[in-house]
Amino acid sequence: MREIDLLDRYPRVRRNIAAREAAKPHQREIARKFGREYFDGDRGQGYGGYRYDGRWVTIAERMRDFYGLKAGDVVLDVGCAKGFLVHDFRQVIPGIRVAGIDLSPYAIEHAMLEVKPYLVVGSADALPYPDGTFDLVISINTVHNLELPRCVRAIAEMERVGRRFKYLQVDSYRSDEEHEKFERWQLTALTHFDPDGWRTVLRQAGYAGEYSWTITE
Ligand SMILES: C[S@@+](CC[C@H](N)C(=O)[O-])C[C@H]1O[C@@H](n2cnc3c(N)ncnc32)[C@H](O)[C@@H]1O
Repeated sequence: MREIDLLDRYPRVRRNIAAREAAKPHQREIARKFGREYFDGDRGQGYGGYRYDGRWVTIAERMRDFYGLKAGDVVLDVGCAKGFLVHDFRQVIPGIRVAGIDLSPYAIEHAMLEVKPYLVVGSADALPYPDGTFDLVISINTVHNLELPRCVRAIAEMERVGRRFKYLQVDSYRSDEEHEKFERWQLTALTHFDPDGWRTVLRQAGYAGEYSWTITE
């Protein structure tokens, strides 16, 4: 298990905390349904329009190079939403095989057509795949949406279905100030920790892959 930021080429958009902190409890409830309002409603309760813009190409390239992925390898994205990352894996590694899973029927229904056949609705803590199915299992910005026991199970599931590599990203904070910003920003997280807290969770889950945090600054 080691910390490395494979999202370091992802364009950093400054989070507009002021706009988000006005979110009311009922907007958070709406966001947690991960339906149209979360993906394609207004910014106060989610993405404010979750559209493909090619930004995952550089992430897929980074992972291809870091893990040495090639045609024939199989990659799973847990919390794949509309399938943007798995789409871009297919662009940068012709012949790679992909799968995605997401709790949101809305996201899967509105997924990119080219990858829709590879995506299923399901939960991160009960992955419908046999042990050791994938060369790489990725989960970005997703497992914190489960309450702690299920979050631990979700991370253990990544380990179970991955035969070689795993990469996990979650939000975190290193100080009271960052924690406070995170609380003002986040809409859907049920589990969150500082880096030491997350490392304890990763150990509990038996996680042996790479991981990184995104800090709300
Ligand atoms: C912040 S979005 C991240 C989407 C994508 N990974 C990205 O980074 O753009 C969180 C995603 O987690 C999904 N999600 C929430 N709870 C989940 C669960 N229990 N199992 C699988 N996916 C879940 C949501 O539907 C949503 O697509």
